[in-house]
Amino acid sequence: MNIVKYVTPEIIFGCGALAQVGESMLRLGARKAFVVSDEGVINSGWVEKALSCLKLAGLDYEVYCNVTSNPKDIELGEGVKKYQEAECDGILAVGGGSPTDVAKAIALLVTNGGKIQDYEGINKVTRPLPPMVVATSTAGAGSEVTQFAIIVDRRRNLKMTIISKSLIPDIAIVDPELLTTKSAKLTAATGIDALSHAVESYVSLAANPITEVHAINAIKLITKNLRESVACRTNLRAKRNMAMASLQAAMSFSNAILGATHAMVHQVDGLLDKHHGESNACVLPNVMEFNTMSCPAKFRRIAEAMGEDVTGMNNWAAAEVAVKAVRRIISDTGLGDGLAKVGLKESCLSILSKNALKDACLITNPRDANENDILEIFRRSL
Ligand SMILES: [Fe+2]
Repeated sequence: MNIVKYVTPEIIFGCGALAQVGESMLRLGARKAFVVSDEGVINSGWVEKALSCLKLAGLDYEVYCNVTSNPKDIELGEGVKKYQEAECDGILAVGGGSPTDVAKAIALLVTNGGKIQDYEGINKVTRPLPPMVVATSTAGAGSEVTQFAIIVDRRRNLKMTIISKSLIPDIAIVDPELLTTKSAKLTAATGIDALSHAVESYVSLAANPITEVHAINAIKLITKNLRESVACRTNLRAKRNMAMASLQAAMSFSNAILGATHAMVHQVDGLLDKHHGESNACVLPNVMEFNTMSCPAKFRRIAEAMGEDVTGMNNWAAAEVAVKAVRRIISDTGLGDGLAKVGLKESCLSILSKNALKDACLITNPRDANENDILEIFRRSL
């Protein structure tokens, strides 16, 4: 009998949920919160709001906002030192994937010691982390619920994937109002990232009946709402549905892991420092095309979830419809013009393909891929 495991944090979802950060930290036993965020989120006013909620709950705090997109290993030392000097006993991230992954890495290093490279791969964390609450400000990365932290190794120019149940925050706060301050471009890139999480985890070798339900629902919600969310910053219905889609995609991929798209895009992100979702958009349809022969019935289900009529078609034809539908939503949201436009040079593809083979996400890709396969998909995505 197969054993199915599924983990997720406590989730507080809905407009106005950000106000619950203080009570959440308090409930976890924290007295002084280390608040991790970035400049963009601070400028949009959400950090100030979170701090006033901490104050109201009687909590002390220290703010750390020196976080870049695609956070790097060399930046973590400063955060670790600040956490220790301020004698904090809990972590609150307010932001998207970058501040959340930095918060996770700091929480990991202050309790387990060593350097972040020591934890690359699966299940290398041995000691418990401090209480952790994440209030997410984007609908895409999903780090608020996942057991992943992604940090760039500056020396090797690649993204390290760190996977451990210890990295799952205790409480995830998802407030769709926070999405109303994001640009159309960021909304599109994060939305396509969420779509790639849903698609990759749905066809993953580690998918199970619990993850599949969340993945398919996320695909439906993204198909129906991403275009409207990109088109209008204040469309709260679309924002709410995208927040739910991102959450469900993340609950799925945290447990079922991902596939070749992420194994490849992590290498591009490490080299170019561009938004992860933009690179994802160039690679995802080509990986889907490569993967269809491994599980065409699942790709048929993706086409159906995207509202495509595949009646009377065999699974092969229906799978092609799924790939086309994904290409269409990517192009409608202004993405997917090729990795060359993102800044990638053909001369880099060989080393990126080699490194992608070592990424933990490739283990669950439904079709075996060797270096030549990866290189060929990179070429098609250029
Ligand atoms: Fe992603």
